[in-house]
Amino acid sequence: MIIELAKLKFSYPEQADSLVLDIPSWSLPIGEHTLIHGSSGSGKSTLLNILNGLLSVNSGHIEVLGQRLNEMTSRQRDNFRANSIGYVFQQFNLIGYLNAIDNVQLANYFSKSSEKSSVTEEIKALLNSLNIPKKDWQQPVHKLSIGQQQRIAIARALINKPALLIADEPTSALDEENSADFMALLMSIVDSSQTTLLFVSHDISLSRYFTRVESLHDINQAGAVNAD
Ligand SMILES: Nc1ncnc2c1ncn2[C@@H]1O[C@H](COP(=O)(O)OP(=O)(O)OP(=O)(O)O)[C@@H](O)[C@H]1O
Ligand SMILES: [Mg+2]
Repeated sequence: MIIELAKLKFSYPEQADSLVLDIPSWSLPIGEHTLIHGSSGSGKSTLLNILNGLLSVNSGHIEVLGQRLNEMTSRQRDNFRANSIGYVFQQFNLIGYLNAIDNVQLANYFSKSSEKSSVTEEIKALLNSLNIPKKDWQQPVHKLSIGQQQRIAIARALINKPALLIADEPTSALDEENSADFMALLMSIVDSSQTTLLFVSHDISLSRYFTRVESLHDINQAGAVNAD
């Protein structure tokens, strides 16, 4: 298993008496391409931020890539996140005034990857394979299209060759055509690199791209009272 959760409970400190997540048991096998769907506010981003170690839980067992996250210090979790998980955010979180290469390089800078000198070549190959035209590589990314920015966000998530790629509604800002192109591209990359993918979205029509589809409302007992 690449992810194993048991008796996980989480509430935000501001609303300590209101559980956002209460997950008795859930796991994700290696190699799966999984969609978890759920309505807005159902806790999708919260769950992903627990899995990448940004949020720590009130109680429960969380194992990701064989590491017990709730037994780590926040510094250990930061290192774990930089080295082992690729993350595509709901808002892409690119640095607008930096160009594509520098945005991707930043992810590598925070990792302990030993081959930094060859990384620029790797970034260029990755941008090429993601159909970012060469003429755009040196542009500040805020001048690029939303679809291009989203593909740079994938490049950034993949540069450290993570075993697990987590994506938080990366298609929500894209129109239908760009969304279909994006999904096809993402799936071909995770297939060829044998990366396990965990993708969350409110959009159940994306189901056809995945090997496994689950509803957060089935996984999360705290959401049981809210209809989807
Ligand atoms: N930083 C925060 N502090 C306090 N409450 C929060 C915080 N972030 C989210 N919440 C609350 O936690 C619940 C789950 O939010 P979350 O962002 O995980 O939902 P989501 O499923 O990702 O929604 P969306 O589809 O709109 O992105 C919501 O009730 C939200 O108001
Ligand atoms: Mg969200």
